[in-house]
Amino acid sequence: MKELERLYKNNLEWATRINAETPNFFADLSKQQSPDYLWIGCSDSRVVSEQLVGLQPGELFVHRNIANVVVHTDLNCLAVIQYAVEVLKVKHIIVCGHYGCGGVLASMQTVEHGLIDNWLCHIKNVHLKYQEELDALTDETVRLNRLCELNVIEQVKNICHTTMVQRAWRNSKALSVHGCIYTLETGLLKDLGVRYSHMHDLNSIFQLKEAKKAVYEPNLKVMETDYEGR
Ligand code: CO
Repeated sequence: MKELERLYKNNLEWATRINAETPNFFADLSKQQSPDYLWIGCSDSRVVSEQLVGLQPGELFVHRNIANVVVHTDLNCLAVIQYAVEVLKVKHIIVCGHYGCGGVLASMQTVEHGLIDNWLCHIKNVHLKYQEELDALTDETVRLNRLCELNVIEQVKNICHTTMVQRAWRNSKALSVHGCIYTLETGLLKDLGVRYSHMHDLNSIFQLKEAKKAVYEPNLKVMETDYEGR
């Protein structure tokens, strides 16, 4: 308790101030949340999601991890996306990266950092995809920052490829996925100009149609023939 005294004191002051400005703020907010935005950002302590976009409690649904990566097998992130899209019915999903990201920098190195390297492999794959463009950048900082941008762009696509987003679009729900990047030195957010809001914005291989029941039924006849023929 002693070590966290400052935090509890700050919390009391914060809650008291907000309640003084807006009586019943917390009591009203406790009844429901209806954020329009899902924010997927880096865990970096300097990229303070709600504050940097000036939103109040209840306005931003947030998921943060090292280097704002969206992996199709990450149940944590997928569950956040499902809840945001299907239950909260957010209108926008925003991937926010930041220049000088330590996670992205670590992914560019070839020295072992431990468990995190398994996570960073996803960024190395982004690196591979844009190898030519990145190799042409001789300045290390410029190259790092470009990879930070490309990482956001690829994670935006990864979100669009999830079944939750595909289903929302198939059902004509208004849902857009955006990419932006934050500059630690200025506190400013930059729109990366990537915005997906329809199925046809994606490469055709990722455009999922509604499954017919038969797709999941094994072809027993073929299986029998194969067995007998062995
Ligand atoms: Co970071």
